[in-house]
Amino acid sequence: MGTAEQHVALHWSTSEEGDRPFILEPISGQLNNYPSFFSSERPTRIIQHSDDLVCYNTDWLKSHKGTSSLALRPKTTEEVSEIVAYCSKNKLAVCPQGGNTGLVGGSIPIFDEIVVSMSLMNNILHFDDSTGILQCQSGCILENLENLVNDKGYTVPVDLGAKGSCQIGGNISTNAGGLRFVRYGSLHGNVIGLKVVLPSGEILDCMNTMRKNNTGYDLKHLFIGSEGTLGVVTEAAILCYPKNSETAVAFLGCNSFGDVLSCAKIVRQKLSGLLTSLEMLDNQAADTLRDNLKINVPISEHPFYVLIEISGSDSEYNEKKLNECLTLLMEKNHVNDGTIATELSRIKAVWSVRERITEALLQEGYGYKYDISLPLNDFYKVVEIMRERLDKRVTRCVAYGHLGDGNLHFNATTRTFDPEVLSLIEPFIYEYTSKRNGSISAEHGIGYKKTKYLHFNKTQTAINLMKSMKALMDPQGILNPYKVLP
Ligand code: FAD
Ligand code: MLT
Ligand code: ZN
Repeated sequence: MGTAEQHVALHWSTSEEGDRPFILEPISGQLNNYPSFFSSERPTRIIQHSDDLVCYNTDWLKSHKGTSSLALRPKTTEEVSEIVAYCSKNKLAVCPQGGNTGLVGGSIPIFDEIVVSMSLMNNILHFDDSTGILQCQSGCILENLENLVNDKGYTVPVDLGAKGSCQIGGNISTNAGGLRFVRYGSLHGNVIGLKVVLPSGEILDCMNTMRKNNTGYDLKHLFIGSEGTLGVVTEAAILCYPKNSETAVAFLGCNSFGDVLSCAKIVRQKLSGLLTSLEMLDNQAADTLRDNLKINVPISEHPFYVLIEISGSDSEYNEKKLNECLTLLMEKNHVNDGTIATELSRIKAVWSVRERITEALLQEGYGYKYDISLPLNDFYKVVEIMRERLDKRVTRCVAYGHLGDGNLHFNATTRTFDPEVLSLIEPFIYEYTSKRNGSISAEHGIGYKKTKYLHFNKTQTAINLMKSMKALMDPQGILNPYKVLP
């Protein structure tokens, strides 16, 4: 993942909002007799200098800023347990942080919570090349895991544009979707085991490595997607899949969103079993890439583009199936131009068009990011409605997303934060989504940004149960406070 140098004016400093129920002072005073394992490596494992804390306090979008004065970097589950037990005893709030690539403000402290950074917990524990089950610490970077299992003939079930920075523990805690969801499904299906430190500091060992295990409540699911509010994930067992040796990517141009939908239907039918990704972007997303990152789409200009990836073991068969599918799409006029890449460097170049939109948008100034799922018939209507509502108040309205999963990323940009623009988008977009039984957060999570909109997707009974579960597991509310729950 590249980094964007040009950044945005911060639209709020979180410390300005609400009361601050957790007090950090006790930890500074008691640091000398604080967890013994840190004493010899203090400079690299206890971060206290304000300059060094900036990155722990600031999110990837540079729109949220916390005021933590302490970040700790444990190396083992036992160390995490010791930290959390200490914080529990002293009523200190904790913010678990992975690669800090989250897009909803979940990974940064809101006030002065102690950041527990998982980045030194990056050991591979075991890989079983007959079952494909990988066991590792939660701070392993996703791309490193992919490279490791690739060498053994496997692939990890999740892939996203932030793969070079995000950690598997962050992926699990957000139940990240990403670019291969259409093939391998959710992490709820692919996480086989977890080890978690509970808010009391106790270690919950669910590091099962058996595919089948029906022994009552499957507790690991509580931590998948709960965004660090119920426990700190320290180890995981992930199901990896045999890597298909032959991959092809097609990048296609469509003249209307109706054509995009027809394209998606035919691709699903004709390429079933081979399809690994089915993505889309609109021309405004392509313009953003061109203007901000000098990346051009590999075909002539169209209102919409569809990216398809297939993978299998037989290149001749793949080619035949792909050609049949593309011929049909051209005959039916759903596609007007296209290119196919089969060589790794070209495949990567085509993928960068889709993967780097987020980074290109960051360069524009302030970004209003939405991650919704909608029935396909309503998928693009909301973008047209938003364009009309926002009109010249915004620099751009852009849409891209995981077409195969009905997951749309609608984004608007302005040079600096504009409250009027925000009020024209929210809560309208959430109401629109909810009325159509869509999800207000298809993959990024609720984090800090969306807590007050949770009711658009969850009934009061569901929210009450979530609150009861939180109260049961974290009665003092020390773990990632102000996140997920309203
Ligand atoms: P962080 O951002 O550090 O944390 C995210 C949340 O998880 C926070 O609430 C944090 O407290 C919690 N957390 C982190 N580690 C732990 C742990 N070990 N134990 C308990 N809680 C923990 N998301 C998608 O779903 N699909 C995409 O396609 C996608 N593409 C992206 C592309 C780009 C360029 C960027 C910048 C982001 C993208 N994201 C995407 C969002 C983000 O990358 C994912 O949410 C990712 O899973 C976060 O991982 P992380 O390690 O960076 O977690
Ligand atoms: C993506 O699919 O590119 C990500 O979820 C990030 C984003 O929404 O910008
Ligand atoms: Zn996405």
